[in-house]
Amino acid sequence: MVEMAPSALLHRNLRQVPPMVVRGEGSWLVDAEGRRYLDASGGAAVSCLGHGHPRVAAAIRAQLDQVAYVHSSFFTNAPAEALARRLIDRAPPGFGQGLATFVGSGSEAMEAALKLARQYHVERGEPRRGRMISRRMSYHGNTLGALAVGGHAGRRALYAPLLVGTSQVAPCFAYRFRREDESEEAYGLRVADELEAEILRLGPETVAAFVAEPVVGATIGTVPPVPGYFRRIREICDRHGVLFIADEVMCGMGRCGSLFAIVDEGVAPDIIIVAKGLGAGFQPIGAMLASGRVADALRRGSGVLQHGHTYMSHAVACAGALAVLDVIEEDGLLGAVRRQGAALDAALRAEFGAHPLVGDIRGRGLFRTLEIVADRASKAPFPPSLRLAARIKAEAQARGLICYPSSGTADGEAGDHVLLAPPFTVSAEEIGQIVAMLRGTFDAVLPDQGRSRAPAATGQAAAAS
Ligand SMILES: Cc1ncc(COP(=O)(O)O)c(C=O)c1O
Repeated sequence: MVEMAPSALLHRNLRQVPPMVVRGEGSWLVDAEGRRYLDASGGAAVSCLGHGHPRVAAAIRAQLDQVAYVHSSFFTNAPAEALARRLIDRAPPGFGQGLATFVGSGSEAMEAALKLARQYHVERGEPRRGRMISRRMSYHGNTLGALAVGGHAGRRALYAPLLVGTSQVAPCFAYRFRREDESEEAYGLRVADELEAEILRLGPETVAAFVAEPVVGATIGTVPPVPGYFRRIREICDRHGVLFIADEVMCGMGRCGSLFAIVDEGVAPDIIIVAKGLGAGFQPIGAMLASGRVADALRRGSGVLQHGHTYMSHAVACAGALAVLDVIEEDGLLGAVRRQGAALDAALRAEFGAHPLVGDIRGRGLFRTLEIVADRASKAPFPPSLRLAARIKAEAQARGLICYPSSGTADGEAGDHVLLAPPFTVSAEEIGQIVAMLRGTFDAVLPDQGRSRAPAATGQAAAAS
């Protein structure tokens, strides 16, 4: 045991101080007691290059030796300029004359996107446009503006009095909400049309933007859209002059096999935000990209972004992110994500495809989820009182596996899933280890099908939680 003074750190849970990590190597983390953890979720889909990377570390050190920080209202800096150029050059069609800005997190990037969407309309002489529409069961960050557009009931509840009014429409979540008599395409059009109905209800002249994750991450577990959904969304936004903000904080920067996940849907948004995989955990960074059309409104209008933070376009953070992108491109990691993503999917299906409590196995690239159900036929979730997601997380960690379980998958409250987002460099052997450790975890935590489904039947899990 390592002796420690009482912690002065405000931990996420004051009653459970987590283990102290002292080292990271590739897909693995090592704690102060020498225990090794296979990081199969990169924390929350962050560490896309694993832990520790010599080229990224060297780029960060080199930038520290030159200049660490300048305030963006006094100076520009070379890494920020190069990173903006790189992202704009790689962004979907319509971003060629666009602009990028860098902040410290996904939530800050969302704040910037919401503000820019609002400013865009004001610059163009439509000052009534301020309403934001997003989707139920979504998460866009924890700062107040981002939380206000999020559709995660649990995270919003405490802060409801502080949140500005926004609208939420249906998510595109075929496993749960497609009717049996509906094709995937028909389902996608039906839920996309809810956006149009809401725009018309509010009055198009008051609506600024629609916000959505191209592949939904934490809230419902790596849910890709059905074909045609985002094309219809794009048409609706265009018809009513509403901007489309793609939140790629979790699914972007290669996680799904493309640098920008929305390109797989064949449409381009007006604003994109990215974060997590952009910095890969080496430095905190988020980015907002404005398309040429949005940037032009600013160029032709006031020419001034009415938003800023002290650490905007931080030179060291941008140098780190640029090195991450170099590694992804030079090492061909987008191809690796597609290959290893298919291998992970196949391994999950082989192990859990017939599991009576796994209702769905889904995702894209190295962004995969198992959804847990009490009954596969009815898709009924387990009651929230079982705290399955929390118990799976604890049991997996005790066994040396870091995965990212969440609850609320079925209806915002009930339902559980386990999200996996291993590094782009994950090996075939590690995929085997992930699946085996997950199987052991499920066997320990999930109600035993041969016996009772009561929580008391899972003594080991109860001890782990
Ligand atoms: C889709 C999405 N948007 C925004 C955020 C907020 O990012 P951050 O936690 O870096 O503020 C997250 C974080 O999980 C996210 O998954």
